[in-house]
Amino acid sequence: MKKLLLAFVVLFSVSVGVKADEGMWLPYLLKQLNEKDMKKNGCKLSAEDIYSINKSSLKDAIVQFGGGCTGEIISDKGLLLTNHHCGYGQIANHSTVEKDYLTHGFWAMNQSEELPNPGLTAMFIIRMEDVTEKVNKNMQTYFSAVQKDSTIRANAKEIEKEAVKGTHYESFTRPFYYGNMYIMFVTETFKDVRLVGAPPSFIGKFGGDTDNWVWPRHTGDFSVFRIYAGKDNKPAEYSKDNVPYVPKRSLKINIKGTEEGDFTMVYGFPGRTQEYLFSDGVDMLMNVNDPVRVSLREKRLEIMDKYMKADDQTRINYAANYASVANYWKKWLGEMTGLKVSKAVEKKKAWEKLFLEQVATNAEDTKKFNDLFNEFHKIYEEYTGYSKQQDYVTEGLFGINAFIYARNFEKVINEAKKFKDGKNENFNKDFEKTKPTLIGFHKTINREMDIQLMAAMLDMYDKGLKKGEKVPYIDSMIVAYEGNTLRIAKEIYETSTILNKDKLSKVLDDVANKTDVIQNDPMYLLYSKTMTHYNAKIRPYTTSYEQRLTEMYKIYMEGQLKYMKGKQFYPDANSTLRLTYGKIKGSKPKDGIKYDYYTTIDGIMEKENPAIDDYVVFPKLKELYAKKDYGQYADKNGKLRVAFIAANHTTGGNSGSPVLNAKGELIGTNFDRAWEGTMSDVMYNPDICRNITLDVRYTLFIIDKYAGAGYLVKEMNIVK
Ligand code: ARG
Ligand code: GLU
Repeated sequence: MKKLLLAFVVLFSVSVGVKADEGMWLPYLLKQLNEKDMKKNGCKLSAEDIYSINKSSLKDAIVQFGGGCTGEIISDKGLLLTNHHCGYGQIANHSTVEKDYLTHGFWAMNQSEELPNPGLTAMFIIRMEDVTEKVNKNMQTYFSAVQKDSTIRANAKEIEKEAVKGTHYESFTRPFYYGNMYIMFVTETFKDVRLVGAPPSFIGKFGGDTDNWVWPRHTGDFSVFRIYAGKDNKPAEYSKDNVPYVPKRSLKINIKGTEEGDFTMVYGFPGRTQEYLFSDGVDMLMNVNDPVRVSLREKRLEIMDKYMKADDQTRINYAANYASVANYWKKWLGEMTGLKVSKAVEKKKAWEKLFLEQVATNAEDTKKFNDLFNEFHKIYEEYTGYSKQQDYVTEGLFGINAFIYARNFEKVINEAKKFKDGKNENFNKDFEKTKPTLIGFHKTINREMDIQLMAAMLDMYDKGLKKGEKVPYIDSMIVAYEGNTLRIAKEIYETSTILNKDKLSKVLDDVANKTDVIQNDPMYLLYSKTMTHYNAKIRPYTTSYEQRLTEMYKIYMEGQLKYMKGKQFYPDANSTLRLTYGKIKGSKPKDGIKYDYYTTIDGIMEKENPAIDDYVVFPKLKELYAKKDYGQYADKNGKLRVAFIAANHTTGGNSGSPVLNAKGELIGTNFDRAWEGTMSDVMYNPDICRNITLDVRYTLFIIDKYAGAGYLVKEMNIVK
């Protein structure tokens, strides 16, 4: 049965012929599904050149970087290219006030100067295998969802173990098409990955949050690392005796330049998409989840911004948090707008109607899918209310710093109680390590700001939900305070012990006897009452809807594969290796607006503004610009290009992915999408969806001319 399904995927997609632009394709199925179309669009490579288990192929130059981004190998000495925002944490970790690499950049001038990063990994894919049949071994139709799940897990575990026996490889299995297909991945993970270089933030983060998700773009969003291996070229923990990894494959870099209409492909690890949502699911996302999350984040950002502007220390303390809150705030805003503009719900409904028409030839299936659709309606109707409540907790209340802080005390109380019962002898000893972290909170927290955050979040929580939907504790508190949430926040901060450093210190010194103080603390109560409600009255529902929906989507997917022969089905992104391809192309995002397909350094100078952090430009870049000293990196008109857009279907996780030309040579690094098209996670619209790529010529120009690290360029294989 499962084999049959895959056959459907392959067959129908082939008979229909897949098209460029939309789709995140499985590398090992390129031959069957995409090769013909890719060639038609200009690709000069065979599927085997891109993914092969018999010989070295492009896949051997691609890694999942740090678990969430992508990176590519660009020299035979293990040099790795990714985004600045992907290496940001590492660059920040090595920075101090005296050696501020974030601000000024960092460049190792030889290998001995490269900086180790404990915990940072680079994962290669050795091979992937369809294990659908194997994971379903001994499956019985009468099994409950839980039994089915545990059967699959147990089977997968065995297959995974077998696959890596006698090797240093690792393996994992993931569901595709909502569990209609399972693929096992065999991987090799390197653990000694060193920082080689990063441009200053005014280049690597140029435009900051203002330009984030926006085209036209001028961000030099790249950083350079190097993978080290043991003397046997295998992964090893950090050691100064490790040597640069000799890769099976490294990418050639093409600086001849690109034109509109050129074939491109992006090879990387896209994180998550939901392309096959039922219309009611899209409706819930764009009309409930996105707006609620956006409004809560907007308020948080507004408050944080005010306090960060007023105080430098606050700005530094909250910079990373602000950036991550802002990133998805903007993305969701773009997504809900794009879905609306594209009439996504209507399109889904039309699709569902068409589907039922196709099914009409089969009486049994007609009943089955009508029932299924009715259940979709019913579930989403119920789920929406709970999902909204969940968002108000996770995006609202979790946005209060003191709320997240209070979570730490849950464990403290539990462990301390066990100690009292004589079941946790080491408590006091272990607790000595926890104490500084708990006290540490008070060194960085901006109390005034957090009071405002708490007041605002409680207020929005109160107004956004109906009576029966709220945590009763919060509801009655707000009623008692006649809606004055600022007074509540102030009083909590004033009277709470855990929010008072000195009082807290005393309590922590004798914590085993003081658990009742913490338990009755007003801040802890706000936290624990909320979580009790959340864990009993929200989470169990959202989890069970999600579980049921997964089962239903599996059936729906199976039906679509069977009946909708006109559509190309690619599996949703799930942080596994995918290839997407499309052409370099400008766009027309809105009436009256046309986007060119590339930007140049001229635009950096146009945006330059010493008064705005996001648009500061250091003198050295201005000098190079004034002299037009672009060397071999200029385009044929003598301009230095910075970024370009193309119609590639990408998502979060594709950051740092190599953007390759028709021959598989590196022409840039993917780092973002144009705002109008961020809906592509739910519905791809070829007219407005564009990925944003950093032109590799700008990267090399910065390394060579700006940073004076030209020795690195010599290490690379440059095609001129
Ligand atoms: N929007 C890009 C991506 O999701 C870049 C994010 C980092 N940049 C920033 N300004 N916060 O993830
Ligand atoms: N910046 C994103 C990332 O970190 C890529 C942009 C996108 O979501 O397409 O993966």
